Amino acid sequence: MACSNPKQVCIIGSGNWGSAIARIVGSNALRSKNFDERVTMYVYEEMFNGKKLTEIINETHENVKYLPGRKLPPNVVAVPDVVEAAKDADVLIFVVPHQFIRTLCATLLGKIKSTAIALSLIKGFDRAEGGGIDLISHIITRHLKIPCSVLMGANLANEVADEMFCETTIGCKDATAGPLLREIIQTNYFRVVVVDDEDTVEVCGALKNIVACGAGFVDGLGLGDNTKAAVIRLGLMEMVKFVDVFYPGGKLATFFESCGVADLITTCYGGRNRKVSEAFVRTGKSIKELEDEMLNGQKLQGPYTAEEVSYMLKIKGMEEQFPLFTAIHKICTGQLTPKDFIDCIRNHPEHMVKTCGVCLSLPQ
Ligand SMILES: NC(=O)c1ccc[n+]([C@@H]2O[C@H](COP(=O)([O-])OP(=O)(O)OC[C@H]3O[C@@H](n4cnc5c(N)ncnc54)[C@H](O)[C@@H]3O)[C@@H](O)[C@H]2O)c1
Repeated sequence: MACSNPKQVCIIGSGNWGSAIARIVGSNALRSKNFDERVTMYVYEEMFNGKKLTEIINETHENVKYLPGRKLPPNVVAVPDVVEAAKDADVLIFVVPHQFIRTLCATLLGKIKSTAIALSLIKGFDRAEGGGIDLISHIITRHLKIPCSVLMGANLANEVADEMFCETTIGCKDATAGPLLREIIQTNYFRVVVVDDEDTVEVCGALKNIVACGAGFVDGLGLGDNTKAAVIRLGLMEMVKFVDVFYPGGKLATFFESCGVADLITTCYGGRNRKVSEAFVRTGKSIKELEDEMLNGQKLQGPYTAEEVSYMLKIKGMEEQFPLFTAIHKICTGQLTPKDFIDCIRNHPEHMVKTCGVCLSLPQ
């Protein structure tokens, strides 16, 4: 049934994934009576071939820098001022690289509707004050005082933009918000499963980028598919253990949703973190140099997430329990060489135990 007050949607971010999701949200908003047709998209202003990116997007309906060759629906309006874009929104979709989230929240504080709900598509963690890590959805909720659900999955942006079939996972505890979020996101090629295990969904989305760096090292070292499969499996076991230790109450079943195994696999075969990590081994250049050279303004997540995770593991004296995450961080930062990688995981705790204690302690 049509809603008397159609909900306004704002997308905060306009990179590769932000633009791909804007294609979906824009066309769903046009179709659904529950949403206002006009969708605003906050675009961090930059010049492209001498012209403002927002002007190009609004004139050509194409994000020529971050998603060239794919059109955006004309009802998606690029706005360079984040407050202007977000102030009337009922649904705020956050999709910026995680390093920008605190600044954006500070800018938006007190300037948005108090009844708004958020959906974070951001994969990564931030450092918590006083040690440990902060989930991005928790930062959004704490700073803006609105509930924040998450969307993560095996969703390489270019393939989604080309409308190739895939699945995604929304983590949402609120039984009213879940169906609304699904309605604005789901299409016949982008299938949504809603689960209530929000934190596990988000942790999977962040940690898989670390494992993707390991997969890239394997490719750069010229090791085979068996080795890569071992790295993916050990990575998955560290992801499960991480949730078990730091987010108790998470469900093992969530790892079998798109946000878990599926996203891990796609990221370890496609995706920028794998690609740059392979080049890191082959060229000997730094991660930062390669990010600038290879990604045309797009941001890497894996090495930064590895740094945040290692920072916390070190404080807690738990590095040895997560040797894959730890080795990847040390390689990215030059404390170890890529050739050391396999030696670091040769005697992984997973090889030392007969049964998987981690899995047994997580509820199904
Ligand atoms: N690309 C994918 O395939 C994909 C898929 C799923 C999730 N994600 C996640 O989505 C999030 C956004 O990634 P993306 O691919 O849309 O971005 P991106 O890396 O393609 O682009 C970088 C974006 O950051 C913006 N930016 C640069 N400086 C900024 C600043 N100071 N303040 C605010 N914005 C600034 C740029 O304008 C651009 O929009 C990330 O957390 C990523 O992990 C990406």
